[in-house]
Amino acid sequence: MKKAFITGIAGQDGSYLAEYLVSKDYEVHGIIRRNSIPEHQELRISHLEDKVFTYYGDMNDPTTLSRLLGLIKPDEIYNLAAQSHVRISFDIPGNTVMTNAVGTLNLLEAFRKECPHARFYQASSSEMFGTGMDDDGYQREGTPMLPTSPYGCAKLFSYHIVRNYRKSYKLFASNGILFNHESPRRGSNFVTNKVVKAAVSIKLGLQSHIELGNMDAYRDWGHSRDYVRAMNMILNHSIPDDFVVATGMTRSVRDMCKFVFDYIGMNYEDYLKINDKHLRPEELPYLKGDASKIHHVLGWQPECSFEEMMIEMIDHWMRRLK
Ligand code: GDD
Repeated sequence: MKKAFITGIAGQDGSYLAEYLVSKDYEVHGIIRRNSIPEHQELRISHLEDKVFTYYGDMNDPTTLSRLLGLIKPDEIYNLAAQSHVRISFDIPGNTVMTNAVGTLNLLEAFRKECPHARFYQASSSEMFGTGMDDDGYQREGTPMLPTSPYGCAKLFSYHIVRNYRKSYKLFASNGILFNHESPRRGSNFVTNKVVKAAVSIKLGLQSHIELGNMDAYRDWGHSRDYVRAMNMILNHSIPDDFVVATGMTRSVRDMCKFVFDYIGMNYEDYLKINDKHLRPEELPYLKGDASKIHHVLGWQPECSFEEMMIEMIDHWMRRLK
């Protein structure tokens, strides 16, 4: 039985990954940050209560990371913990860097000392590309990385330090460069779930309007459930390497909003207010990933379309808010 250690196990991706690994007979361990309202902390993994082992831990507590890796001796380490909200990274840049950059270094050091034969997955992000783009309008492995946020800069440090540790210490350490990925488990301050929750609330008479920021940003949106499969495939490849994970299709926030409101039988323009507080000091206008490498090398393909994913999210909020 393989053992996996997941930081960020209680997040959207951590919960789908834990579910997937349990279904593949892994013994799954993960860390949870201490929070003053413990009832909310493990909501996304409460259905796995008897199937996974959780511990208190924090990316900024190297002693605990070392102790846990020494105790568990995992075969696979998935570093998914992060301050994951890009706009909020402008409010708390120090915390974002400590968690998303220094935290990765702390975990890599614990990995190197306690279980160097394990395999390490780093949740790298398309936000690292920023304004970098190839001439054909895609971002892929090798595209210049010019991040536009503290979040993107911190993730870029982690991406490079993982590559550096791989080469310097001959460790199996890989990056998945994941484009946006959503699900009903997405936090409701990310744009897809914010729009879906608001549209359903408006339809049910619980809310009058929605406030958004940049309607003309383009994102490549896939489903988290598909993307955690890619993480596991990346770690089970014969060599450590870096892979873009994306759908290859891009849509604007406006297109996404229109799809959701149309599906529920409403016109989004009747309910939309633009509020500058949702803008970022520097915007990232356009992301579209080329996932050819992971298609060809590992055989990964997404199974869920954008439309199916958004409808799953709409159904989720309809059930919940009714
Ligand atoms: N959150 C939010 N709220 N975004 C808005 C809003 C709003 O009210 N209005 C417009 N947007 C636009 C943002 O400006 C951005 O261009 C786009 O919607 C998507 O925003 P988010 O859903 O917050 O995601 P993100 O692209 O900034 O970051 C996500 O994807 C990254 C991968 O590229 C996060 O999941 C990151 O953790 C991840 O690395």
